[in-house]
Amino acid sequence: MLDNNLVLGKEMDDGSLVSIPCCTSQRILVCGKTGTGKSYTLGVLIEELSRLNNDIVLVVDPQGIFWSMAEQNPSFTETDKLWEYSRDARGFNVNVLVPGDPVERYGGADIVDEMRKRGINIQGLRLNPSDLTPEMWCDLFDLDINGLMGIMLFKAVRQCGQRHGREFLIDDIAAEVIKMHGLDQTKEAIQRKLDMAHDWQIFEEHRYREIWEILQPEAINILDLSVIAQGRYGLRNLVLAVLATFIFRMRTIARRREALGLASDMRKVWLAIDEAHNFCPSGRSTLSKEILIRWAKEGRQPGLSLLVASQQPAAIDAEILTQCGIRIVHRITSRDDYRAIDALSQDYISDGLPSRIKQLSGPGQTLVIDDERESVVPVQVRPRQSLHGGGSA
Ligand SMILES: Nc1ncnc2c1ncn2[C@@H]1O[C@H](COP(=O)(O)OP(=O)(O)OP(=O)(O)O)[C@@H](O)[C@H]1O
Ligand SMILES: [Mg+2]
Repeated sequence: MLDNNLVLGKEMDDGSLVSIPCCTSQRILVCGKTGTGKSYTLGVLIEELSRLNNDIVLVVDPQGIFWSMAEQNPSFTETDKLWEYSRDARGFNVNVLVPGDPVERYGGADIVDEMRKRGINIQGLRLNPSDLTPEMWCDLFDLDINGLMGIMLFKAVRQCGQRHGREFLIDDIAAEVIKMHGLDQTKEAIQRKLDMAHDWQIFEEHRYREIWEILQPEAINILDLSVIAQGRYGLRNLVLAVLATFIFRMRTIARRREALGLASDMRKVWLAIDEAHNFCPSGRSTLSKEILIRWAKEGRQPGLSLLVASQQPAAIDAEILTQCGIRIVHRITSRDDYRAIDALSQDYISDGLPSRIKQLSGPGQTLVIDDERESVVPVQVRPRQSLHGGGSA
């Protein structure tokens, strides 16, 4: 039974193994204050998913720490205990996706070479301008779609789609803008924004490339967003939004094919997001929030699972939080965050959740709340097989 589940750790009271079922799509929240082991726990779950090798795993990594999963955990005090879980210390097959040019983003060809020598596959990721809807192009530049610039940019992107299908570049959008009726000043202002988009180096410049080509089903796919500044244009959110939208569409098609008994080679997908409050925050919109809410609410049927980690559960949008039927809670001390977790509690949870959370101390001590099993279990998360990259220098 445990072999088909994700082994998380041991029950702190009686030492029995605790696992998380993964035969159906899941939505899991990992939370706790800083330094309590959220990213480490996320890594444990990713190792377990990788061991099962059933589904595609995509990790959204805003800190650039997950590539170290390619290396074995060097800490003997940690790995000594792995036999209790029938696991061994090992590195995993890792595919790092880097928005833009990896050599430039990582600051040197020798860095990329060294990572490759260590068995890490590194690929540059560029978005196709057609991966963004006309609305997204306007949102990206914070343009009102009813304002002069917004109307013009919206029309230009739409025109490109009609003329070239999916195969157009930023220059084609610029060419459409030039052809339009309108004030030269407005056209120039849009042109400047498109030039800026060029300079971000996250868009394809030569040809249309199906994003699907870069995800590897057999590896842990890691989207390294640490290489782009969060900044005011929300480029990190944009990259995630485009990937998530694409995967959602592909899995919806695959699900229909499976239901009709037609051949389908696209596996189900687990999306694991560290520091998730940046991508689907409560109280403000971001380019990625809409698709993540959709993923959480409608993604079960097409086989899309979600793992979100955050030190501020209260800062994650409620539409996503309420979908998380499994919550892995590390120590928290902020009242807002207690409240956010308590508000999700169902009737089966007796009083005293805050005091049970307060009792958690060392890293990796958690309370696992499972709405389906109607259980609240204190769990010591198991050691990592691979190297955890979260430490500070
Ligand atoms: N289950 C565990 N077993 C052993 N050590 C752990 C465990 N969980 C976490 N640690 C250790 O605790 C430290 C903090 O872990 P981690 O980086 O995952 O924290 P975090 O909650 O993600 O923090 P932040 O909010 O700053 O990102 C790390 O040095 C890690 O090695
Ligand atoms: Mg972390």
